Amino acid sequence: MQTLWDYRYAQRTQWMKESAIRELLKFSERKDIISFAGGMPAPEVFPIDEFRKACDKALREHGAECLQYGSTDGYLPLREMIARHATRYGINVTADNILPTSGSQQALDLIGRIFINPGDRILVESPTYLGALQAWIAYGAEFISVPFDQDGMVTDKLEDRLRAGIKFIYVLPNFQNPTGLTLSYERRLHLIELADKYGVPIIEDDPYGQLRYEGEHLPAVVVLDSQTRSQDTCYSGNVIYLSTFSKTLAPGIRLAWAIAPPEIIQKLILAKQGADLHTSTFNQITTFEVAKDGFLNDHVKLIRKVYRERRDVMLDSLEEHMPPGIKWTHPKGGLFLWVTLPTILDAKVIFDDALNKSVAFVPGASFFTDDRGHNTMRLNFSNAKPEMINEGIGRLSEVIKNHIMKK
Ligand SMILES: Cc1ncc(COP(=O)(O)O)c(C=O)c1O
Repeated sequence: MQTLWDYRYAQRTQWMKESAIRELLKFSERKDIISFAGGMPAPEVFPIDEFRKACDKALREHGAECLQYGSTDGYLPLREMIARHATRYGINVTADNILPTSGSQQALDLIGRIFINPGDRILVESPTYLGALQAWIAYGAEFISVPFDQDGMVTDKLEDRLRAGIKFIYVLPNFQNPTGLTLSYERRLHLIELADKYGVPIIEDDPYGQLRYEGEHLPAVVVLDSQTRSQDTCYSGNVIYLSTFSKTLAPGIRLAWAIAPPEIIQKLILAKQGADLHTSTFNQITTFEVAKDGFLNDHVKLIRKVYRERRDVMLDSLEEHMPPGIKWTHPKGGLFLWVTLPTILDAKVIFDDALNKSVAFVPGASFFTDDRGHNTMRLNFSNAKPEMINEGIGRLSEVIKNHIMKK
């Protein structure tokens, strides 16, 4: 039936697509499913008691402030804490460089609002984070992809693309979603050098940087960029850095932050006013209470231990069960690994059969901006318990073996 709304949708709604992952999460809610699909943290490590105590304290000590409208700029003690933390990693930032957002997803959307005109070209890794593509497609972005290998974005392939007129570069340097792979130190430096040479800014999306299970911490792109310029007290370089409390505390609080030059923070604030006025005051205050005094550092150590074990169980299981000809990444951190099947197989077809065996994953094609990746899949190892990971990989391997036999 037609309604009077049908002809009134803005043009951008034609570009909007339902996220394959959100669709899949519906399946993951089924109790009988072993889900390797979403990017969900382990519920067993949520700091429920700490949040309960923090809520109580926040309401006792800041009751009215918690429940009142707040400023779009965000809760100052939280911004100062984030700035202190960033400073420890070697970048001079103040609270004026920080904007709390309702998840990093909102920061991606606000970046789209302030920078993207229809037809603008955004340079993305191939594959890349689906949520960014979704956010920016709505503003009419076009995507130019850069190849990706074991050391992350192949920066040697950047130069000709940068000459083609690029609005900004989107990079996921640590334990990338979806592949789990990390941008090498040399390539971080190369990226900064080229961005500077061609005058193209960088969006660095880093939800997983704290979740390293082996190897040396690598400095963030924003930190390396700041080291190439005179170290003023307030960062004003080429990078907008995003991170989040979703993977280290809890995604349900929808709390993340952007670090950027102050004039960009001001533009983001204007965009945010129109979007949601401000990030939940209650969540900012309670999260500050939970995170301050060192709890977050200790908690991250626990998460690393739990996720390292789950990653290892998944890697061992893949080794034990998968038939020959299947390859997968060995991430040094984060939440995901990436499986490549023989090209004769289609991960979407396998997905339906896997679901019949009560196992879910994300077919990899969704993470590409072109028609590649039909034979790839993203597996999450943080959400399921070790025994379930083993069982799920066993079932998935059987499904894959059956498909190979049919070919
Ligand atoms: C690369 C990347 N960016 C952004 C997000 C969104 O995070 P948030 O929960 O802070 O909105 C995610 C979530 O999985 C992600 O993987």
